[in-house]
Parts: sequence; structure tokens; C-alpha cells
Amino acid sequence: MATVEEEIAALREELQHHLYLYHELDRPEITDAEYDALYQRLEALEAAHPELITPDSPTQHVGFVPLEKFEKVAHQYPMLSLDNAFSAADVQAFLERAERRVGHIGGYVCELKIDGLAISLTYENGKFLRAATRGNGLVGELVSQNVLTISSIPRVLQHVPSSLRGVIEVRGEVYMPKSSFMQINERLDEEGKQPYANPRNAAAGAVRQLDPAVTASRNLEVFMYHIEPVTTVGTQAAVLPLLAEMGFRVNPHWERVEEGAGILAYLDQWQSARHELDYDTDGVVIKVDDKRLQEELGAVSHSPRWAIAYKFPPLEASTRVENITVQVGRIGTLTPVAELEPVLLAGSTIRRCTLHNEDDIRRKDIRIGDRVVIHKAGDVIPEVVRVVLDDRPPDASPWSMPDTCPSCGSHVIREAGEVAWRCINSACPAQQRERLQHAVSRSALNIEGFGPAMIERLIVKGFLANISDLFGLTREALLSIPGVKEKLADKLIRAIEDRRELDLDVLITALGIRHVGSTTAGLLASHFGTLEQFRHATREELIAIDGIGEVVGNAIAVWLEEDSSQRLLDAILSHGVRVAAGRTGEGPLHGTTWVLTGTLSMPRHDAEAAIQRLGGHTSATVSRKTTYVVAGTSPGSKLAQAERLGVRVLDETAFVQLLASPEQLSRG
Ligand code: IVH
Repeated sequence: MATVEEEIAALREELQHHLYLYHELDRPEITDAEYDALYQRLEALEAAHPELITPDSPTQHVGFVPLEKFEKVAHQYPMLSLDNAFSAADVQAFLERAERRVGHIGGYVCELKIDGLAISLTYENGKFLRAATRGNGLVGELVSQNVLTISSIPRVLQHVPSSLRGVIEVRGEVYMPKSSFMQINERLDEEGKQPYANPRNAAAGAVRQLDPAVTASRNLEVFMYHIEPVTTVGTQAAVLPLLAEMGFRVNPHWERVEEGAGILAYLDQWQSARHELDYDTDGVVIKVDDKRLQEELGAVSHSPRWAIAYKFPPLEASTRVENITVQVGRIGTLTPVAELEPVLLAGSTIRRCTLHNEDDIRRKDIRIGDRVVIHKAGDVIPEVVRVVLDDRPPDASPWSMPDTCPSCGSHVIREAGEVAWRCINSACPAQQRERLQHAVSRSALNIEGFGPAMIERLIVKGFLANISDLFGLTREALLSIPGVKEKLADKLIRAIEDRRELDLDVLITALGIRHVGSTTAGLLASHFGTLEQFRHATREELIAIDGIGEVVGNAIAVWLEEDSSQRLLDAILSHGVRVAAGRTGEGPLHGTTWVLTGTLSMPRHDAEAAIQRLGGHTSATVSRKTTYVVAGTSPGSKLAQAERLGVRVLDETAFVQLLASPEQLSRG
């Protein structure tokens, strides 16, 4: 039996480890609820044995040491964390504690607790100065360049009341919409990389990396909710609309309530309604409305006494792994999948869930027959959290990846630096099926009526091996498939006919080239303009395109060099497919790349849209590939970078003139 000292030491070590994974690597291995449980256990032991509390205990400080790679910045006002409540009784106790201190309160604001990354924005007389993460609460990381790529963060405030002149800090939460999260993970999966555990980690990863262009590509959003110094505005119910007036994005779902009953009704409502939102919220923050009372209540070591975070109960369920199967993706990636005893979780029945890759299975030690706890990562994708070891069948043995492809029997390889194993036989039937399914999907050709079952049957019958066969399908071939009647056959034929005229970017997407999704396909289409140009592109040309790096450029070059790829393109054309130029077309700014910096008098979105309409490409970072930098007032380091690299710089007047008559653009 461990002593209390030993248990405390073990808990601290474990919590430190998880703090490191969460804050430093943005890759947690346990859920927030599990972390909270460990933390509460440590808190309880420390409360019973206060003599054992040490300053380095995770209960005594907020967050984690800031990353070395960013410049540090001291917060003018500490960025506190919040105490948690896990039940209505905890909330009630919070209200009573607060009223015991300051008397009757009579007004609270309930807000959704956005599950993102806390951010502090500093403004001076309405002008953006810097952005910082929370760090350890006192010192954060300077992430201005990255945060400024989020278009809803104003560089200049629209309205600054006189009480807020001088230096203020505005705080809020950066988050990644669930829809963007799904897209990014799909892409990481395709690239054989480890997907993010949830939208919050993906958002934190996007903010806390060194390349602003990466942040810009991650579709981050922000909700702001707090102003320092606190007493400049009378109530929280006045702060929120004021923030919106100043030009910040504010979550609309807040409510002012008079007392406990109103708070509980709000918690109840959002417990289920939150699943309909396009962002994660892990709870509700309850704040004393009156800012003078907030000041009077003050704070204990790392959390204010005037607010509490109610955490929604975790979405978890336990079930059994009946089998582990291996799926083969369109580029041959082998993904292990747990076949589960069906179980209800957050309103849907879960039968299978991805186990990501071999390393993940090893780390969690998941075996066939195991009882496992599953949850919805980012409330969307079901995932195994942990194995219930006490319930492991005695004969369960560790799982390992098969060394041949489960579909075609070819050998599988794992490339250096990748977590995924891949089948390298491009004629593998499973890959064929996945490629075809990708080709007809909404993001590519968008041909309705070709579900997985139909594609499978057409492959088995020998009518379909690749996307060119799709354009050669006949009514007779379709009618020979069991269950396909004339009406359906005609509908499918019409759907294919509708696609015989294609935009270049759609065709490139449909080809299913490794690392090439619709965004990259759009870049390629607007750069090359025609299929002829694209199919003869060299590796050097590809890598020179802004927005295409070494890895992606290489993958495209490798694909284009294959005889089978060129034969596939010939076959598609021989079926009468006509390829129009890419959607972006060949405007007068075609082939140019633009970077905007500083404050322009027109909204940045409009400026970017104008460039894109004329066929130009916009980017967040200045490089040698940049054609022009447009510098507004108070431009930042991008202007310096442009000067260093000898990139041409336009002021806003020259820019507007150029938009009016783009043909005057001098190239080269
Ligand atoms: S108020 C001094 N309001 O949750 C207290 N925080 O667990 C300032 N959070 O550090 C925080 N949504 O990063 C507040 N509507 C909201 C929030 C919110 C998310 C985060 C914030 C805070 C953490 C505490």
C-alpha cells in the first residue's frame, strides 16, 4: 500500500507528464475528464495534508512553461484560470461562497466555455500592439504574427470609448471550427501523419508553430469575452456588446440571469444544444455580472472568486472490441479499425472506430476482446480512450499490423518519418475502390448515385478499374448489375454525362494524387491553366508554385512521371471528356502572389477577394515567390522582409490604381 506522500508524488508526476503532452506538444493522451479526475484526487489529498503542498505542485500554478521557440511577454494583468464545478451542487456552493463575501449579488452572466486556446490581445489607443498566449499565466508567448492571420481579429478598433483609451488587454479564445478540424485531420491521415486528438489541440498547434502561413491555412476563429482593466466597464453584460461594437467577434449565446434557477436552466439547455454548434464547448462559465463586485471578490492563487467553470459531463461509453480490421485507403495507407459491440454515444450508435495507426494501438495497448472506453474526439469522431485492464480476457494477445496488404497480399512498407504503413501496389483492388469513391465524391466529380456498394459491384464485374472507365460506362453494363433497373441506369448515365465537361481543378482533385486535395488542385489549375500544361509540369516548376512545398510537389511529379498516369489521362480524354481551365481562370493577375500587411482602408477580405477575382493568389508570408507586398499603415515585419528580399512594395493608392487597370502590371 502506497503512503500518502507516495501517492501525491505519483499524481504530481503523472499530472506534469500530461500537462507537458497537452501544453507543450498539443498532443494529450488522456481526456480532459480523466485529467480533472487525477487533479481532483491530488487536490483532495493536499487539502487533507496541507503540510505536503509544495510550490511546484500542479495545483499551485496555471498552465505550463512557455515554449522556448517564442519570444516571451509578461502579461500586464495575470491571465487567471477558472475553478471547476462538476455538478449543480458545486455551482450552488460557488454562489453561496460569493454571497457570503459580498452580500446579495443579484445578477450573473452565463457564457459558453469555448474549448480553445486562451489569447490576450493588447491594444493602445485602439491600435493592435501584440497577441500572447497564456503561458504560465504571468508570462506568455508572443504570437502576434500568427494570430493576425485570423481575419476576425481587428488591427484597428472601430470604436474606442474614452474609458478605454491607452493600453487595454482584450481576452478570448482561439478555436478551430469542427468542420475545419475534420478536413485537416482527413488530410493528415492521407499524408500518413498523426491526426490531432481534437479541435482544441489542432487550434493550439496552429497558433504555436513558427510559420504564420500554416496558421492562416487552418481556418481559426476567435470569440472575445473579457477586457482588462476590469472596472473600465460596469458589468459583464455591458462588456460583451461593447466588444462587438469595438469590432471583435463575440459569442452570441450568452445570457444574463438573476439567480441560481436561471443558471441551472442555462446549463440544462446547452448540455444538449451544444452538439449543434460548429465549435466545441466543454462547459459554461458563470460570472458575477457587476464588475465592482468582481473586484471586491478578487482572486485566490490562480482563479478568480467571481467566476466558475461548470464542466459538462464527458461523452464516454464503454464497449468491447470484437475485432481489429485493417482498411486500405486510396493511396494505400493501412488504417486499423476497431469493430465494436454497438454502443450508444451522444445520440448515435457506434459500431466501429478508427485506431489511427500501429503506434497508437501499442501505446494504448488495445487488444481484440478488450473492454474499452470510447469518447467522441472533439465531440465528432469516436475514439478509444483507454482499455479497462481489469476486464481483459486472459487469452488476449498484443495486436500487430499484418505484413501484407489485407486486400491484395502485397508487401507493406513504412516510410521514414511516417506513422502509417502503406501498400505500394497501385493496382490493389482496395486502393482502386477508394480512389473511385474519392473520384465520385462531393469534393471531386460529385457524381450522385455511385455509392460504395455500386462501385464495388462494378469493380467485381470488371466494368470499373479507374476513373476513365467511369466515363466509358454503358447503360448495358449498369443493367447487368443485380438490382439496377432502367430508371436507375438512365439516371447514372445522365449523371456521368453531366460531368463530361470538367473544370481542370475538379479533374485534378478526382485523380486522387497523394497529398493533392481540392485546395492544391485549385492552385495547380490556376497556375497551369490547361491539362496539357499541367501534365507536363516538372518537379522544379511545381515546387516553385507558392503554396506548394517539397513534399507535395514531389508527390505530384512522381505521379506525373508514371506511364500509367499519363495513360490514364489519355484514356479520360479519349472518352470525350473536355477539360476547361481551372475555376480561378487566367485573369490579368494570373501567376502573381500577393501579401497584404498593415492596415488598409478597405476591409482586408475585400482586398484579397479583388486579387483573387483577377486571377492572383494571396499569401500570409513574404518569400522570394511573392510578386507584390501591399503595405497599409503601420506595416509590420512583412514590409521589412519584403525589403530584405527585394520584393516590390505598393502603397494602398498604387494598389487601388492597379486593381482598376490591372493590365499595367509590370512583370518580371
Ligand atoms: S473567463 C479570469 N469566459 O477557460 C477568468 N473563460 O478554464 C477569465 N474560457 O482561461 C476567463 N470560454 O481560456 C472565460 N466565456 C469564457 C470562456 C473562458 C473559454 C477559457 C479561458 C480560461 C479557461 C478556464
